[in-house]
Amino acid sequence: MVKVAVLGYGTVGSGVVEVLHTNGESINKKAGEEIEVKYVLDLRDFPGDPIQEKIVHEFDIILNDPEIQVIAEVMGGVNPAYQYVKAALEAGKSVCTSNKELVAKHGPELLNIAREHNHNFLFEASVGGGIPIIRPLNQSLTADEICEITGILNGTTNYILTKMNKEGLGFDEVLKQAQDLGYAERNPEADVEGYDACRKIAILASLAFGNHVDFQEIYTEGITKISADDFKYANKMGNSIKLFGKTKKVEDKFYAMVAPVMISDTHPLYAVNDVFNGILVKGNVLGDVMFYGSGAGKLPTASAVVSDMIDAVKHKNTTVVQQWSSKKLELTDIMLSQKAFFVRVQGTVEEKLSQVEKAFGNVQVIKVEDLKQEFGFITQVMSEENFERAQACVEGIITRIRVEM
Ligand code: HSE
Repeated sequence: MVKVAVLGYGTVGSGVVEVLHTNGESINKKAGEEIEVKYVLDLRDFPGDPIQEKIVHEFDIILNDPEIQVIAEVMGGVNPAYQYVKAALEAGKSVCTSNKELVAKHGPELLNIAREHNHNFLFEASVGGGIPIIRPLNQSLTADEICEITGILNGTTNYILTKMNKEGLGFDEVLKQAQDLGYAERNPEADVEGYDACRKIAILASLAFGNHVDFQEIYTEGITKISADDFKYANKMGNSIKLFGKTKKVEDKFYAMVAPVMISDTHPLYAVNDVFNGILVKGNVLGDVMFYGSGAGKLPTASAVVSDMIDAVKHKNTTVVQQWSSKKLELTDIMLSQKAFFVRVQGTVEEKLSQVEKAFGNVQVIKVEDLKQEFGFITQVMSEENFERAQACVEGIITRIRVEM
């Protein structure tokens, strides 16, 4: 019998307890031992709920109980999660977490501590919710050099962009609907500004390339400036707009960014809609492999946490190898990266095209019926630096969106 504790009885924490209860028999078989929740740490009480008998309010009770071998940390946020997880690992307990802020900020340090104590720090649920992506990177794709990872890594923004695309609505209106449905937080900044996707791509890049990517150095642009008119152009071309977290190795340079990207209907991530996530990985020998599923939510996320708990039980006193050294990975300025851009500009084609082509060279012009006082165009592939230079030479640019076909 292995006794475990759950830190936090919110959405994911209650999901972890539910999954362990619902699938107890098969989970125990797969773990090779019976797993029993001994404690649940939460500030609140839950009178009348059977969980109440396991509720404790002090972390030290869990830390100092030698019977507890595995801890699920599902509180979120860096503090006090970091102090609790560090102390637990130092005390020789394994920790499984869904906490992407914690993993992105302290991943290599916590992995080192786990390694020193022959235990495990596992975080499958921190990226892509229920989608297996951390374990594939650590175990299934190890024959490959990873060249590129492109992900729709945030369910809330994917829901918003899908609704804007399908219903022709504006960002603010859809955000409000998403909040009313409980998808988006009342303070949706971390989702809509891309901060959540930024931490997730930092974790994936660190694992893919083996050295630590500092999330604070990743260029991050959210979706707040994407408008219903942008989608009119996208629809006219049979394209869509998605928030991508992307990391790429080009020769000896590493890039990472989070930004909205216009993609064609032949792109593998085109059909990833609503709150779903999709992650496309390119390996140098394997080629493309794609992971798709529920990227957020109580049970999908809890499923990933519990799978880590099973792994931790199966690997008592051995460390599951994860390639993520604390050595910093130097990212190259995205200004040097190459891509095409979709641009909207005020004025008619007759008035402006020569100015546009003087700055950008040949472009593909797109007109939308009811937007008479503007037009759109797609540039050739160019560096971000050259794009900035060219756009400064054209008056009346309304917006620009990066393009990936
Ligand atoms: N807010 C996140 C999302 C939750 O919408 O994807 C899962 O990390």
